[in-house]
Amino acid sequence: MNTLRAKLVLLLAVAIISVVGVLTGVLLYLFRPPGGQHMGPVADQVLMLKRIAEQSPTSLPLSDAPAAGKPRPEITRWLKQDLDARGAALNVAVTRSGDSAPQVVSIPVNGAWLHLPIPDLPPPDGGWHVLINWLALITLGALAIAIFVANRMIQPLVLLEKAIASVGPDALMPELPVKGPAEVKVAAKALNSLSSRLKDAMESRMRLVAAAGHDMRTPITRMRLRAEFVTEDDDRAMWLKDIDELERIADSAIVLVREESGASHAETVRLDDLVSGIVGELRGLSYKAELESTVPALVHANRVALNRAFRNLIINAATHGQGARVRMEYDTRCVRVIIEDDGPGIPPKLLGQVFEPFFRADPARRQNIAGAGLGLTIAREIVRRSGGDIRILNGEKRGLRQFVELPLSD
Ligand SMILES: Nc1ncnc2c1ncn2[C@@H]1O[C@H](COP(=O)(O)OP(=O)(O)OP(=O)(O)O)[C@@H](O)[C@H]1O
Ligand SMILES: [Mg+2]
Repeated sequence: MNTLRAKLVLLLAVAIISVVGVLTGVLLYLFRPPGGQHMGPVADQVLMLKRIAEQSPTSLPLSDAPAAGKPRPEITRWLKQDLDARGAALNVAVTRSGDSAPQVVSIPVNGAWLHLPIPDLPPPDGGWHVLINWLALITLGALAIAIFVANRMIQPLVLLEKAIASVGPDALMPELPVKGPAEVKVAAKALNSLSSRLKDAMESRMRLVAAAGHDMRTPITRMRLRAEFVTEDDDRAMWLKDIDELERIADSAIVLVREESGASHAETVRLDDLVSGIVGELRGLSYKAELESTVPALVHANRVALNRAFRNLIINAATHGQGARVRMEYDTRCVRVIIEDDGPGIPPKLLGQVFEPFFRADPARRQNIAGAGLGLTIAREIVRRSGGDIRILNGEKRGLRQFVELPLSD
């Protein structure tokens, strides 16, 4: 009921029904049945006939009793008032013997009664039903028109909603068909042009990063060769360390571009095997990593990319966090891998930036732990591409908790 469509329908229907309702009221008032002001001529006829009947009693048929039927007190009152106004206070009575029978005025004439039929304009039989049906018809008609108009009016918004829903994990939107009413065509064209400009901008950014990463390799190799000739041992070690870092940044940038530009082959992956394989491999490389528990889970992802994502997260916990603990659990329709450590965590005000490229929580730590600052960016890109997401929180006392959620494959 809170949708724009429902509100428009309601607004239009209420507007139409109130206008027609008020007009119906005005019409009913203007064409209301005649009231007391129309009884004057009847009073004149009553007096005239009474006079004739008194002067020549045989000229008119007289009865012993007033006409039978249902009394009409209001009309009787109006008629008596008009007779009074003419100076003849007569004890007349108006009755009607049936719905289709005319009204009859019973006029007392010397102990007998003269019956005079008078015109009657009663409302049609079951007048209220007619009115209710009329209003129901108007309501239905107004609702139908309101739904039709509201649907047409919000078509551009529906298109926008569909377009947003169709944005894939690569942030690209499929081309929308340019058809339908003018407003929808304009909205579709605008969205298509926005999407194509966004795609161009993303592709040119990717090309730039990939080219820069690639072109850096040659000067880095030259620098490495020159560094080998530095005679001072300490100096040489520092040069080589910096060159290693440069190389890692260039490599990571290329990996990130590859992940963002998509084109990865997804398959069904046994996540518990993948995670325990990574922990085993990292332990073999002397990283401090421990597998606490796993649950069997199949997910749909690119195996090599997913491997890289979990490696990045577990290595972070093992290095920045001084020791990784990994466990798995199910959630509704998804599986969660939790990677915890007891390290320093990340200052709360910086937590919102952890997935930004080249983010380093503490630049001073660069001295001890080498890294490009792209590991988390790459990991999130990969996990999101598989329909999942990563959340990173600080532990209650210390350490960092990384939650990776992936939809279970059927
Ligand atoms: N478990 C952790 N504990 C504390 N700080 C962390 C943890 N994981 C990541 N960080 C902080 O987040 C920063 C970004 O991590 P990210 O993995 O993106 O880059 P990196 O590890 O520095 O380099 P690389 O690209 O080689 O992974 C790290 O430099 C570190 O400051
Ligand atoms: Mg890292």
